Amino acid sequence: MATLAAKPIQAVRYDSYGGGAAALKHVEVPIPTPKRNEILVKLEALALNPFDWKIQKGVVRPIYPRKFPHIPGTDVAGEVVEVGQGVSKFKAGDKVVATVSHATGGGLAEFVVTGESLTVARPPEVSAAEAAGLPIAGLTAHQALTQGAGIKLDGTGKEANILVTAASGGVGHYAVQLAKLGNTHVTATCGARNIEFVKSLGADEVLDYKTPEGAALKSPSGRKYDAVIHCTTGIPWSTFEPNLSKNGKVIDLTPGPAAFLTSALKKITFSSKKLVPLFVTPKSENLEYLVNLVKEGKLKTVIDSKHPLSKAEDAWAKSIDGHATGKIVVEP
Ligand SMILES: NC(=O)c1ccc[n+]([C@@H]2O[C@H](COP(=O)([O-])OP(=O)(O)OC[C@H]3O[C@@H](n4cnc5c(N)ncnc54)[C@H](OP(=O)(O)O)[C@@H]3O)[C@@H](O)[C@H]2O)c1
Repeated sequence: MATLAAKPIQAVRYDSYGGGAAALKHVEVPIPTPKRNEILVKLEALALNPFDWKIQKGVVRPIYPRKFPHIPGTDVAGEVVEVGQGVSKFKAGDKVVATVSHATGGGLAEFVVTGESLTVARPPEVSAAEAAGLPIAGLTAHQALTQGAGIKLDGTGKEANILVTAASGGVGHYAVQLAKLGNTHVTATCGARNIEFVKSLGADEVLDYKTPEGAALKSPSGRKYDAVIHCTTGIPWSTFEPNLSKNGKVIDLTPGPAAFLTSALKKITFSSKKLVPLFVTPKSENLEYLVNLVKEGKLKTVIDSKHPLSKAEDAWAKSIDGHATGKIVVEP
């Protein structure tokens, strides 16, 4: 470690809110030091999530980031190089995947510190890029389906009709695949160019969101949805409502003020149809479950594009653009 510690590392950071991709700066910083329950990981791949650039935009100010300058990025895969004194599960040389706190970030760098509690082992069958895609996007899809929609992913539950909006995106592409592990019929929305792709993920029927039927979210087979895993924005409750089954729920991953109002209204009026805002709570056992599914070939991470750390701003701009098919990955 002595030689490592002496050498600065490459990182990408921003100094204030706003500015998008143009505000990212390439800098040299000291290698971070893991505290007691932390792990120093040599980065092999990082996957971006829209929340990364939304934090830069200031949507959750003043909660995140905790301070400036901020090295963004949370979903990382790499090799353990050093562990804190309290770490028992990992040692130098282990391959891992982790999600770090949005408060501290640190992922867009050659080395990143992760917490032991949200770091899991990565088997050789799962590449760094495939693993890095999983934490926030995969765990959100998993939580929305299991906790939000009550789907049993071992297929033992009663049949449910699920709609996944923006099924071609980071969360949506995992949601379609995970939903099909349960006893579900999946309708999905995406752009015309991704219809065959979304079918290949297992969706039973696919709607082009730019057509009138797609915009109306109408199931081509006339199904009413027991749950909607809502991965895009800008669709009012009045569009969802007629498409829901009697006890249908919309699990909204990007709830704005209108969604919170609708959610509260549905609660106080004892409506059987509900809108449920959902924020992911990452859990290592669920991340292990997803990594294992990838290892077994039951879940795949589709990579939209890979960008070198030296061009991280291109990856950032691509995510802001909102047209990724699967996950955007940055590699050192
Ligand atoms: N609550 C949470 O804890 C949580 C966690 C993770 C993510 N999120 C949120 O969930 C949302 C989705 O995240 P993500 O990572 O999946 O985003 P993403 O990968 O950037 O999504 C991009 C995809 O969305 C598609 N799309 C855009 N508008 C659409 C529409 N109206 N109908 C159908 N498809 C549409 C795009 O297709 P085209 O290119 O064809 O337009 C593209 O393939 C984001 O708002 C994110 O912030 C929330």
